[in-house]
Amino acid sequence: MPHSSRRPGKPYHPKRVISETEDGWSRVEHTAPTRYGSKPVVGSSLPAVDRSLTVQKLLDEHTRCKRQWVESEARRWLQQLLTRQMAEGGWSLNKAVCVALGSPSLSWANRLRSVWQLVMFMDLVDMDADELKLYAQEPRFTSLDKDFLESLGVAVLEPPQAEELADESTLIFIPCLEWLLELPFMLVAEKSQLYVSSSMHWVIDEAERFRNRLAADSKSDTPVLKQCDSAMAAAKAILDTHQENKMPEADFADGHSLALTIYTLKHSDED
Ligand SMILES: C[S@@+](CC[C@H](N)C(=O)[O-])C[C@H]1O[C@@H](n2cnc3c(N)ncnc32)[C@H](O)[C@@H]1O
Repeated sequence: MPHSSRRPGKPYHPKRVISETEDGWSRVEHTAPTRYGSKPVVGSSLPAVDRSLTVQKLLDEHTRCKRQWVESEARRWLQQLLTRQMAEGGWSLNKAVCVALGSPSLSWANRLRSVWQLVMFMDLVDMDADELKLYAQEPRFTSLDKDFLESLGVAVLEPPQAEELADESTLIFIPCLEWLLELPFMLVAEKSQLYVSSSMHWVIDEAERFRNRLAADSKSDTPVLKQCDSAMAAAKAILDTHQENKMPEADFADGHSLALTIYTLKHSDED
């Protein structure tokens, strides 16, 4: 993964099975290809639900974070960017999907970062003049998370519903997902107007590194090699067709890094 709130010294080292570490970071040790790429293996040792939380407490946290977010420089930057980059006649979006939010209610180090990311996702949607239907997909959502999201008007999807739903009219918001799992979304994002993700440069680097390792192994898995090539090609296509806008750091966010990259489709008069 390209970043975390605690800024780990180095990213994970992909091997072949995608497994989840307790803090939500993915580790690839062996792939299990599906129609939509590689299926995540969610570890059995998830942290417990924070029993002190209720839907109301999560809503209060959401309100507190939102209050800080709307006053922030990062939010002003985002608003100005979207106004500047908006296609003539506005964005033609009809839904917004948040993928890989993490769980706001599990007792893990980045619980609050999920709340912050949700605030950003919902605010980004509010910046669009159209009424967008909101969705979120995260295999770690607890029933409390689902009730919390539904109380905010966000419909919860089960994998791979988000992969099936996402199309060119979708605002796709992915605050950190293992790159092989991001592939189906990147393929759609090549043509979509607004794509929020970590970094396509990071995807290219990781996919290339993984590919080189596989290629050096005589028993290497050809479908996975192909997935590496597809991920590199899709990330490059997004860089070609979109403006890349790196969000400034928002260090006020309870110590969490919220920096994401906003990819806006180039207008026909732009290179
Ligand atoms: C590195 S964590 C990021 C969590 C949070 N957004 C953050 O920045 O701290 C990656 C998340 O992707 C989730 N994930 C794995 N496969 C997924 C899928 N197919 N759809 C949605 N989320 C998925 C994992 O459960 C995990 O919470």
